[in-house]
Amino acid sequence: MSDEAKRLAAAAAVELVQDGMLLGIGTGSTAEHFIRLLGARVADGLSVSGVPTSDRSADLCREFSITLTNLDDTPILDLAVDGADEFDGALNLIKGGGGALLREKIVAGAAKRFVVIADASKEVAALGQFPLPVEIIPMARQPLSQRLSNMGAKVTLRQAADGTAFRTDENHWILDCAFGATISKPADLARTISLWPGVVEHGLFCGMTECILLGSDDGVRTIVN
Ligand code: A5P
Repeated sequence: MSDEAKRLAAAAAVELVQDGMLLGIGTGSTAEHFIRLLGARVADGLSVSGVPTSDRSADLCREFSITLTNLDDTPILDLAVDGADEFDGALNLIKGGGGALLREKIVAGAAKRFVVIADASKEVAALGQFPLPVEIIPMARQPLSQRLSNMGAKVTLRQAADGTAFRTDENHWILDCAFGATISKPADLARTISLWPGVVEHGLFCGMTECILLGSDDGVRTIVN
């Protein structure tokens, strides 16, 4: 899928931003387009503040002189914009391919509107082809791996480039759980996983998304539920 499709989706999201807004700012290659395009509007005089969903998005915002804030000072955001790894027809998402799912879900949950920017490769009939990231406390790795395997997933501990366990911005581990496009009831699975001791958060975002701005080389389509 072309990078231009992601850029067009991000550009459509930037058009939703109005002067004075408090924003949630996502993570990933599509969200990076959003940050760059938002930065261009800030350079033209737009005044906004944003809560970033990862350290790397925070760094990019600083590069583009986008004012950063946090949920202590601004607990309610006007609009959060983020990418997704998969979405289905009911606008359920899998997120966390970039490892930022915990902060992404906190920020999306704090926003009055949560808008997802994506290209067509992210649209699926049933979630699960993309491995579901589950953020965990390291001590719980084996019990949780077993529980997730019993649910039908092939479970892998995410690794960093140097072969050690990948650490999230909040210093947790991630189990990547390949269900193979069989998550037919995402909200049920989300509730179940959330109850298990040692789970910090998971990458199923159910009932949170207002719309998807789906970019293609021909333009942007808005998908609502
Ligand atoms: C980050 O943890 C993810 O949730 C991203 O939002 C997701 O992986 C989408 O990334 P791309 O825009 O790079 O596809």
